[in-house]
Amino acid sequence: MSKAFASEDMSKILLTEEEIQKRVKEMAKQLSDDYRDKNPLMIAILRGAVLFFSDLVREMDIHVELNFLAISSYGSGTESTGDVRIQYDMQESIKDRHVIVVEDIIDSGRTITHLKEILEARHPASIAVVALLDKPSRREVEVEGEYVGFTVPNEFVVGYGLDFAGKYRNIKYIGVLKPEIYA
Ligand code: IMP
Ligand code: MG
Repeated sequence: MSKAFASEDMSKILLTEEEIQKRVKEMAKQLSDDYRDKNPLMIAILRGAVLFFSDLVREMDIHVELNFLAISSYGSGTESTGDVRIQYDMQESIKDRHVIVVEDIIDSGRTITHLKEILEARHPASIAVVALLDKPSRREVEVEGEYVGFTVPNEFVVGYGLDFAGKYRNIKYIGVLKPEIYA
């Protein structure tokens, strides 16, 4: 077998493509069961959640609507700046809708907390957060995702949508980046 793309930059592979796809299917089944007949509005947080989002919604067997929101909280480093901004907002109303926010990872918790405040002010019927990854050891704000794919250790991970300085998003697995790459 040929070497996985970009594997020379990883200190280890944390989640393989197979592990990710298996879990995505389980989460899609759970969401389909929980939101049957609710016509949920699923919102992907750009850009990190896009790969997860597109796999997740294709495994769901209920009608959903899709939308996108771009948020930035990082410069080009590995720490959230705490300065969370909406870079691209939706035009559609979410009033009285069942909203499912799809995120790549909950780390300090700042991004998702801020985002939930913004969305709650628009009076949806409900809001749930789906996060592929959760890094609870780094939490600074008390917040949990209603649906979490994997809990990961306190290491900087890339792949399957997650980037370092814009790179590695298009990798099918999730790996821990070698510290010398970002040091
Ligand atoms: P938070 O505001 O600290 O919870 O950060 C959430 C955002 O930080 C995520 O949407 C990611 O874009 C980014 N992030 C946090 N941890 C990692 C990581 O290990 N790798 C890549 N991006 C990360
Ligand atoms: Mg992100």
